[in-house]
Parts: sequence; structure tokens; C-alpha cells
Amino acid sequence: MDKKTVFILGIESSCDETSAAVTGNLQVKANVTASQQIHEAYGGVVPELASRAHQKNIIPVVDTAIEQSGITLNDLSAIAFTSGPGLIGSLMVGTAFAKALALALNLPIIEVNHMKAHVLAHFAEKPGQDNSHSPMLPFLCLTVSGGHTQLIKVESPENMILIGNTTDDAAGEAFDKIAKLLGLPYPGGPLIDQYATSGNPNAFHFPVPRMPGLDFSFSGLKTAVLYFLQREQSANPLFIEENRADLCASVQYTIITALLTKLKEAARQTGIRRIALAGGVSANKGLRKTLLEEGKHLDWEIFVPPFEYCTDNAAMISIAGYFKYLNGEFSDQSTAPYARFRGF
Ligand code: KG4
Ligand code: ZN
Repeated sequence: MDKKTVFILGIESSCDETSAAVTGNLQVKANVTASQQIHEAYGGVVPELASRAHQKNIIPVVDTAIEQSGITLNDLSAIAFTSGPGLIGSLMVGTAFAKALALALNLPIIEVNHMKAHVLAHFAEKPGQDNSHSPMLPFLCLTVSGGHTQLIKVESPENMILIGNTTDDAAGEAFDKIAKLLGLPYPGGPLIDQYATSGNPNAFHFPVPRMPGLDFSFSGLKTAVLYFLQREQSANPLFIEENRADLCASVQYTIITALLTKLKEAARQTGIRRIALAGGVSANKGLRKTLLEEGKHLDWEIFVPPFEYCTDNAAMISIAGYFKYLNGEFSDQSTAPYARFRGF
């Protein structure tokens, strides 16, 4: 085995996916995720249940990742894990596991900022693929997930500047909460996407949230949709059933417009034309299509990682860990996870 290769075991447990990955430098050797279906019945993630599911899943997931990677635990150079932001009970499972395994194997540990990792997923190389698909520096990244909506100026893997953020709900949260109002199961984002393909985005007009600077706000949209549906349903109880595709298309159009408006402003202000997308909402077909169209028009270079590296996954944690490893940035056993985003 090549002695220079740095093998990192990555652990992700910030929300409702238990994931383990092995990378060799920037190459993903294995990326295994156990999703938690239990939350569907509750219409959202139940933190206590998420922690318990992580406890159950973590050893089988790590075992499978090591097995698939073709290396052994003795080949590892370090263990990287998500230290925040996220659900504290869930983060504690991954953190405690990473610390214990590192102690047993006498390996260094590397704590990883989950939001930084979403951005660095752009540098993950799939086996048999080179990294020509990775953006050159600097680039702008729009991270859109269930918990966060961020516009980031990426100067380097170590130097990221937050230039826009949501002041309330995240874009994915808006998708999921509005989907719930439309009678769709959790997580509703992918279902809105699906219905929207056969709907008219201009059928209904919802206010595009207006925020100063590069910040976002999505809670007003959710309230506007709620009142609109209450009004329409009092006249026609079948309003949602009869208009579901048009409602989904119109809501999706509004969210995409809000995202693209700020992204265009960020590109204008910074003069950066390399635009990257990250986070689970980047799977949205409407968002991808609009971004590609706008990008062509504005001469942008667009980067969207493979879907498995967009949603929560441990490959991005290993990659972020690799960059810290190169800089000698290790943590000690006293480190503890944190729930709220506290900067890059
Ligand atoms: O990044 P992610 O997997 O987890 C978080 O860190 O939150 O993102 C999950 C979010 C959920 O809100 C889900 O509804 C949304 O991404 N999502 C989508 C689509 N696929 C996932 N939203 C809209 N359209 C999609 N196709
Ligand atoms: Zn995430």
C-alpha cells in the first residue's frame, strides 16, 4: 500500500443520518449511510429517537465502511468526526465513538465543522475519477440544507467567509414545512420537487422574501402559504388535491427565486463567477435547472457534487478532516460537540 496515502475514517451523526466513510487523500474509498425512517411517522426529526438510532447504527455502519474500503483499521491515519452544528444528542454519539476508537487505536482525532464539510464535499473524488470537476479557488458556495442556508466566499479550505445566512427557517425547512401544509409526508422537499415537474410555477403568486444584504428569510413564505390555503380551502375543501402540482411548482419557484436573487447579488458584489451548490436541497431539479440556465446567461462556471455528497454523508467529513490533517490541526480528548453554528 502507498505509504504516502492518508487514510481518514470520517463519522457523521449531526442529524438523522448515521454515516461512516474512508478516504485515501481525496479519494472516497467507502461512504456508508444508514438513514433513519423512524421520523417519518412524526413529520420531522425527533432528537431523542435520532440519538438512539445513531447508537444502534454506528458500529455496523463503521464496520461496513472499513470492509468496503479495502483497508484495515491499522491503516488509518486519523479519525474525523462532526462536532457541530447539529442535534447535540446525535453529535455526542459520533463524538464519543470517534474518541473511543481513536484511544483504542492510538490515533489522532480531528473535529469537523459540518457546514465547512458540506462545502469541502466539492473536493471529494469518486473512485476512478480525477478532481477536474472541483472548483478552483476562490469560489462562491450556496449551501442549502434542512438546517442551514448559507452563502459562503471560499478563499481556501481553511478560509471561508460567511456572506449571507438565513435569519429564520432554512430553505430545506421551508420545503418540508410547506410540504406538510400540502399534506405530504416528511421529508417533503423531494416530493415538492417531483410534483413541481408537472405543475405551473406561475399558477399562484407568493411573496418572494425580501431581506437586506445577502441574508435570507423563509418563515414568511410558510405563513403566506398557510393563510392562502386556509382561505382557498374554506371555499373548496378539495383545493389542495385539485391543485397540488401547481401549488408545488409555485412554492418551489418562489424559493428558487429567493435563492437565485441573493446568489446573483453575491456574484456581482464579489466578482466571483465560480458558483458551487451544496447541501440536500441541491438535489432539487428546478434549482439545478434554473442555476444552469442563469449560469449560462451570466457566464458562470457551475459546480454541483454528486448527490451522495450533497446530502448529509461522512465522505465530506473525511475530506474536511484530510485538509485539517495536512495542517496538523488535531483535537484532544477533552473536545465536546456544540449545537449551534459558531462560524467557520
Ligand atoms: O443536507 P441535508 O441532507 O441535511 C441537513 O443537513 O439538513 O438536507 C436535507 C434537506 C431536507 O429539508 C430535504 O427536504 C431537502 O434537503 N431536500 C430537497 C430535495 N432533496 C432533499 N428539497 C427540495 N428538493 C429536493 N429534491
Ligand atoms: Zn447537512
